[in-house]
Amino acid sequence: MREDIKEIIISEEDLKVKVKELGTLISENYKGKDLVLVGILKGSVIFMGDLMKEIYIPCSMDFMAVSSYGNATKSSGVVKILKDLDFEIEGKDVIIVEDIIDSGVTLNYLKEYLVSRKPNSLEIVALLDKPTGRRVDITAKYVGFKVPDEFLVGYGLDYAEKYRNLPFVGILNEHVYK
Ligand code: IMP
Ligand code: MG
Repeated sequence: MREDIKEIIISEEDLKVKVKELGTLISENYKGKDLVLVGILKGSVIFMGDLMKEIYIPCSMDFMAVSSYGNATKSSGVVKILKDLDFEIEGKDVIIVEDIIDSGVTLNYLKEYLVSRKPNSLEIVALLDKPTGRRVDITAKYVGFKVPDEFLVGYGLDYAEKYRNLPFVGILNEHVYK
């Protein structure tokens, strides 16, 4: 697997330090709140697990699964919900947990959808942010790392469902997908 990675851009150690920092920040900001983390399957799973361990106030977790509707060349901005929340979020303080924001289309849709379920508050934590890819105006309150416009894998991020188990974030070698 390692031979398919051109360059490691975020090491296991850097991830650990940053996730702890985010967990501490969220714990401080949500003291006394009814915190729910909503992970977006499947890319957020590893980040979600590590982040939760660094949050030292009570919180619960839920998951949604979505897919982009239509084909890659025609992005309508419509996202299809494959798995909805298990629990109501009305009145709760929700943070969407996402692996990476690229165009922002997915999160933009999810944000609107979740707002319609009337949470007390709604924020986003994204491990990675690719600002150059943005097509809709959306920002996450909590961001781990700004990353360049390269195809990244590892720590939950996949290429064709593989590489999610790499403990670091790396740039995928072009020979893998060309
Ligand atoms: P957006 O709607 O364009 O912001 O897409 C975000 C989703 O695209 C993420 O949750 C990832 O699943 C996927 N994605 C975007 N960039 C990458 C990447 O570099 N590697 C792997 N998946 C990516
Ligand atoms: Mg994803």
